[in-house]
Amino acid sequence: MAGLFITLEGGDGSGKSTQSRILVEWLEQSGRTVVVSREPGGTDLGLELREIVLHRRGEIAPRAEALIYAADRAHNIATKVRPALERGDIVVQDRYLDSSVAYQGAGRVLGGDEVREVSLWATEGLLPDLTVLLDLHEDAGKGRLADSRTRYDRLEAEATEFHGRVRAGYLELAAVEPERFLVLDARDTVEAISDAIRARVEALLSN
Ligand code: TYD
Repeated sequence: MAGLFITLEGGDGSGKSTQSRILVEWLEQSGRTVVVSREPGGTDLGLELREIVLHRRGEIAPRAEALIYAADRAHNIATKVRPALERGDIVVQDRYLDSSVAYQGAGRVLGGDEVREVSLWATEGLLPDLTVLLDLHEDAGKGRLADSRTRYDRLEAEATEFHGRVRAGYLELAAVEPERFLVLDARDTVEAISDAIRARVEALLSN
């Protein structure tokens, strides 16, 4: 596959969407074709699944939750991301399988390895070329969200301990695959973070 698959990860309110927007603008200005996606909800089917998994009233069993994210992911990769990569485009995506390992594996305590296996089956083994992890202390994330929004989704509404496990899960993943991950402190300025991302992407593009 000739394209480049870049994913952004981090706790809720870590600034992923701001960084994604800056990265996409820069790539497009330098003449690249960029496809933007996100999980959950990068496709029409994904939007329906997103509504269920984030806003359904009432219980969703942890394994059912993990499988809804996996279904969204399978469809997004098969119908949107793989075709884009095969065309040679750059895909910039908000969240991917590392979110499932961190939120369902570590947060919901389903076990990271099994959750990762489910995602790899769902995507026929597709891993990103680069994953940017915007690392944010769990207390700081909630503070930022509270400033900007009044309605929490099902995952955001979880307790601080849940988000602590999510953060630890992410850092563990980054430690296992240091060549795929770029870990940045989400408390840095927007500009410092976007500069660091750009430098890493430039290096990948010149390879
Ligand atoms: P997102 O739309 O990225 O929300 P935010 O802007 O708050 O980061 O993601 C929605 C929620 O879904 C978020 O709380 C993380 C959660 N999530 C999982 O639990 N597992 C997953 O596999 C994915 C992709 C997201």
